[in-house]
Amino acid sequence: MAAPRILVLTGAGISADSGVDTFRTQGGLWERHDWREVATPEGFAADPGKVHGFYNGRRAALPEVRPNAAHRALADLERRLEKDGGRLTLVTQNVDDLHQRAGSREVLPIHGSLDRASCTACGAVHEWRQDLSVETPCPGCGKAGGMQPYVVWFGEMPRHLDEAEAALDEADLFVSIGTSGSVYPAAGLVAAARAGGTRCLELNLEPSENAGLFDDTRYGKAAQIVPEWAEELTW
Ligand code: APR
Repeated sequence: MAAPRILVLTGAGISADSGVDTFRTQGGLWERHDWREVATPEGFAADPGKVHGFYNGRRAALPEVRPNAAHRALADLERRLEKDGGRLTLVTQNVDDLHQRAGSREVLPIHGSLDRASCTACGAVHEWRQDLSVETPCPGCGKAGGMQPYVVWFGEMPRHLDEAEAALDEADLFVSIGTSGSVYPAAGLVAAARAGGTRCLELNLEPSENAGLFDDTRYGKAAQIVPEWAEELTW
């Protein structure tokens, strides 16, 4: 049998074993911050300094964390599949760079990336690893006051959705890893997969909000269950 085409969706849970905060589990980011204040365009307009502070803290933590066995298992699986004519498309809700650092190549960061910043004056997107503030001038146009984290906020349209849907149309398997399934449109991918007759697997610490839509489920820490699943996968 030809190697399968797999669409994988990941959420904060896959990075939890690397020490990266989740949002809605015990002690998660949305227990310590009001998402309306730090992850919406309205929040940024009201207090850009507070929003910059929120993302500066998360961006500064990136060099301290490493990809875990789950990230590495997906990068290895992508190479195994490609060798046999298959494919792994990785749609991630995460804004950390751990998938890329683990070696995954076909990554669609639909909620943006912490290591990028965009200028609302000229539209440029720059690689960005230091703090941002309202005084930060754009390296492109030089204007200050318009630099923002390159992150998709609530109420904004995620990126790469057309590529994600095209990959889902071709997929033989949809795998959701480490996400609570509470934010759309990402949380709607499993229903779209089912509608297209694609088999659906959930790998998570506990049943997500749409656990009932999956054909198969495995629960446990991603760093444990993702490598186990990837190693068992044959075609
Ligand atoms: N291994 C596997 N799964 C885990 C682990 C772990 N070690 N730890 C937590 N999880 C699971 C939780 O059970 C939960 O279902 O990961 C999921 C994390 O859910 P959320 O914190 O809601 O994160 P996520 O689903 O990625 O949130 C989606 O919401 O706030 C927005 O833009 C933000 O991308 C984010 C989106």
